[in-house]
Amino acid sequence: MLGLVAVFGAGGVGLAAVELGKLMGARVIACASSDEKLAFTREHGADETVNYAKDDLRGALKRLGGERGIDVVYDPVGGPYAEPAVRALGWEGRYLVVGFAAGDIPKLPLNLVLLKSCDIRGVLWGAWTVREPKAQHALMSDIVRWCAEGKLSAHVHAVYPLAETAAALKAIADRKAMGKIVLRP
Ligand SMILES: NC(=O)c1ccc[n+]([C@@H]2O[C@H](COP(=O)([O-])OP(=O)(O)OC[C@H]3O[C@@H](n4cnc5c(N)ncnc54)[C@H](OP(=O)(O)O)[C@@H]3O)[C@@H](O)[C@H]2O)c1
Repeated sequence: MLGLVAVFGAGGVGLAAVELGKLMGARVIACASSDEKLAFTREHGADETVNYAKDDLRGALKRLGGERGIDVVYDPVGGPYAEPAVRALGWEGRYLVVGFAAGDIPKLPLNLVLLKSCDIRGVLWGAWTVREPKAQHALMSDIVRWCAEGKLSAHVHAVYPLAETAAALKAIADRKAMGKIVLRP
């Protein structure tokens, strides 16, 4: 039981985490930088949303988490959002370090980890698949089945020809993409 899960960003991995969180029985709070992106995450199952570009992230997560707090934070963004997210975790909550799309690698005061008895867990998919091939096979079977059943959208925001790779990268850098951007050879 995942409980209350906060997911940052509505890009490739963020959107997947929103959909997977719902499939695994969590109540999902999607956090992103525009109301358009948040409406998009609601279409994909998010129960609650927080616009971290204009709202106080810590205050919003504290309010949504109530007395218990947030159980899991899934963070592929990093930067200024990491510390408020850890501060909103509940007792024995878990903060998942997935990526640093915002650019800055956050530094955290470790007293927060002590006081909440919480976990900070790195999630490095590629390395994990090499080290845990059986678990990866089992997990991939679930993911492929959920895709076949239409339960995971793997939403594609835009498809670019290979010759327009620079434009595709610019769309990502400009935070335009909702879901994935695909390059077609
Ligand atoms: N650990 C792993 O195994 C693993 C696997 C895949 C990817 N990753 C990492 O996860 C991160 C996200 O990957 P992704 O494919 O989801 O990328 P993406 O589609 O570009 O999404 C990243 C999101 O980060 C947010 N963001 C905040 N500040 C940003 C900035 N300055 N520039 C760009 N985006 C910014 C944007 O959402 P808002 O506008 O809503 O803030 C954006 O939608 C990357 O760092 C990637 O390397 C890790």
